[in-house]
Amino acid sequence: MKSLPPPCVYDPFAYVYNVHWGPTSLNWLRIVGLLVIPRVDATARVLDLCCGTGQLAGELSERGYRVVGLDGSRQMLHYARKNAPGVHLLQADARCFGLRSAFDVVLCTFDSLNHILSVDELEDVFRCVRASMRPGGLFLFDLNTETGYRMHWSGRREVTTEDHTLVSRASFDRKRQLGVFRATVVHSAGSNAEWVEEVVLYQRYHSMEQVLAGLARAGFNDVETYGLEGDAVVPGCLDHAERAFFLCTVPDTSI
Ligand SMILES: C[S@@+](CC[C@H](N)C(=O)[O-])C[C@H]1O[C@@H](n2cnc3c(N)ncnc32)[C@H](O)[C@@H]1O
Repeated sequence: MKSLPPPCVYDPFAYVYNVHWGPTSLNWLRIVGLLVIPRVDATARVLDLCCGTGQLAGELSERGYRVVGLDGSRQMLHYARKNAPGVHLLQADARCFGLRSAFDVVLCTFDSLNHILSVDELEDVFRCVRASMRPGGLFLFDLNTETGYRMHWSGRREVTTEDHTLVSRASFDRKRQLGVFRATVVHSAGSNAEWVEEVVLYQRYHSMEQVLAGLARAGFNDVETYGLEGDAVVPGCLDHAERAFFLCTVPDTSI
């Protein structure tokens, strides 16, 4: 397997992600609670893949799960260390990590796998996940759908806090199936001191057929799909969903 340097595109974005997006990642707890928690042991070993600033990992750890968080960005992990003190954190690339097959649950939330820009590399992620899981384990991840990109990836947003101004612009190129998110962060520290960070993040829309084929090639044959329509989690149908959830079950060879 090829060895890639851990992706660090989120490094300059980590501070504002931790303030504006990290806390909202707790919304995924509702979906995890619906689809995963009822099916696992109270002390299950959980891998939060692309854990970002660690809010979700921290919450699960507080509830008694044994959680490992993995992310490519050193700066995102810096905040995860504070937000998830009971979680073992690793800096690695989701496309080429190797962990013992110890996990009962692998979660990967909030568009993280849309950052994987080719189907082949998405399959690499699935293979690494599969190799890290126990028989009977569950792998839940979400992806932005084309509907989601069209609904939410346009326009400009500006927010000012005590110590920074964030201006972000999002767009979706339908022809290239590529989402582009640009942000300018102006940090201010006291009277005149200011510094500016520019961030560009790319996301790929992967069709459901491509994702299911990649999962099957990586050994995930038992896959349930769910669509998020507003607040509703709709089993099966992804036609109108803003976001797709994939719940994959590893066969339990002990049965
Ligand atoms: C949108 S954030 C989601 C973070 C977190 N899951 C949450 O719910 O808040 C995407 C995360 O994926 C990480 N990431 C993107 N590509 C990655 C890769 N190839 N390997 C590891 N982490 C990656 C980024 O560093 C970032 O922390």
